[in-house]
Amino acid sequence: MTTPIGIHDLSLATTGYVLDLADLAAATGVDPDKYRIGLGQDEMSVPGPDEDIVTMGAAAALPILERHGRDRIRTLFFATESGVDQSKSAAVFAHRLLELPAACRAVELKQACYAATAALQAGIGIVARNPGEQVLVIASDIARYEVDTAAEPTQGAGAVAFLVSADPALVEIEPVVGVDTADVDDFWRPNDSVTAVVDGKLSIDAYLDGFTAAWDDYRARGGADIDAIGRFCHHQPFTRMAAKAHRRLAEHTGVDLPADRYETSTAYNRRMGNSYTASLYAGLAALLDGDDNLAGRRIGFLSYGSGSVSEFFTGVVGPDYREHRRGAQAQLDAREPVSVARYRELHAAAHLGSTHDVEIAPETRTRFHFAGIRGRARRYRS
Ligand code: COA
Repeated sequence: MTTPIGIHDLSLATTGYVLDLADLAAATGVDPDKYRIGLGQDEMSVPGPDEDIVTMGAAAALPILERHGRDRIRTLFFATESGVDQSKSAAVFAHRLLELPAACRAVELKQACYAATAALQAGIGIVARNPGEQVLVIASDIARYEVDTAAEPTQGAGAVAFLVSADPALVEIEPVVGVDTADVDDFWRPNDSVTAVVDGKLSIDAYLDGFTAAWDDYRARGGADIDAIGRFCHHQPFTRMAAKAHRRLAEHTGVDLPADRYETSTAYNRRMGNSYTASLYAGLAALLDGDDNLAGRRIGFLSYGSGSVSEFFTGVVGPDYREHRRGAQAQLDAREPVSVARYRELHAAAHLGSTHDVEIAPETRTRFHFAGIRGRARRYRS
């Protein structure tokens, strides 16, 4: 019998500030229902000047280390598409803040919103070879588009960390997966830009096409029948996208798929906004926290990263998952509201550059702080 491997623990972190999308709608003269109903978004997390992907990622991972220790972790994967350096991985910064052992590899992975799933699968491979080891995965992103564009209300920020382990308490990941890669210019971020370039309508079509192709590959490789999948967790750049994905799967398979099979997974993303690589796993966090009938059920996951790579995979929830719930709601409630004017100020100040030394004072109540630039290098405070 092969060793079950999967997600043993999972934890979410987000920013210190939040913008109510009703305020953004009022400021831009848009009907608030377009955001609330049309996009399925209520709020978006806004990073303070002392926050970035490293501070959020480390904050997400710390509770996991406090619960399980550091001794078995020999790999840290950091998945992001909003990297802070072209060479040094965000994983190395996080490794120090988290006081992980030196005998540990630390690497960053990138493929738009998909990379955390690549990290999960690579982590499973490492644990399969050495079942005594654990792999820490951090997915952390800041979704930033130009202001006064259609994409502006689909920004957000957040991080999810999870521990890949043998005999997982939360979700055992099954071996059959379906994958699809297609070269498409639906979304990207050039090296000289802090905001992403996006063709929104094309990205929706590319996502749905990637989904059906990954699903077909999954089925061709012996994946479970649609009736054997009790819940779905679709990637959520905005939560209405999960509704579109769910409807497409129902049409594609010809099977009636009620909305209650995915809806619980949208609770955190509605309030956090897009967190790119973390978004799918924030969906899982919401599902595990909000659904009391998951024990022994199979969840179908659709991971999509523009550009594009798609993967459909499944996992079976452990019998005692309710004992391991982490309740991210309190973190979302703790964010401090900001005005549209303040959010726009923070947005405009996002590009610091590295040519001048800058000292950033702690401002938000985050656990770790970005402290600025010295000697062209990024500095962090615990
Ligand atoms: N009440 C309720 N719904 C409303 C509404 C109102 N007053 N006004 C508009 N809507 C609905 C529209 O009918 C539409 O619904 P539909 O998707 O079922 O057609 C939805 O709100 C969005 O409005 P629309 O005008 O079509 O889109 P947009 O031009 O504002 O752009 C995105 C929406 C998603 C394309 C844009 O926000 C974007 O580019 N986001 C970033 C890219 C992204 O996240 N892509 C996802 C795949 S990775």
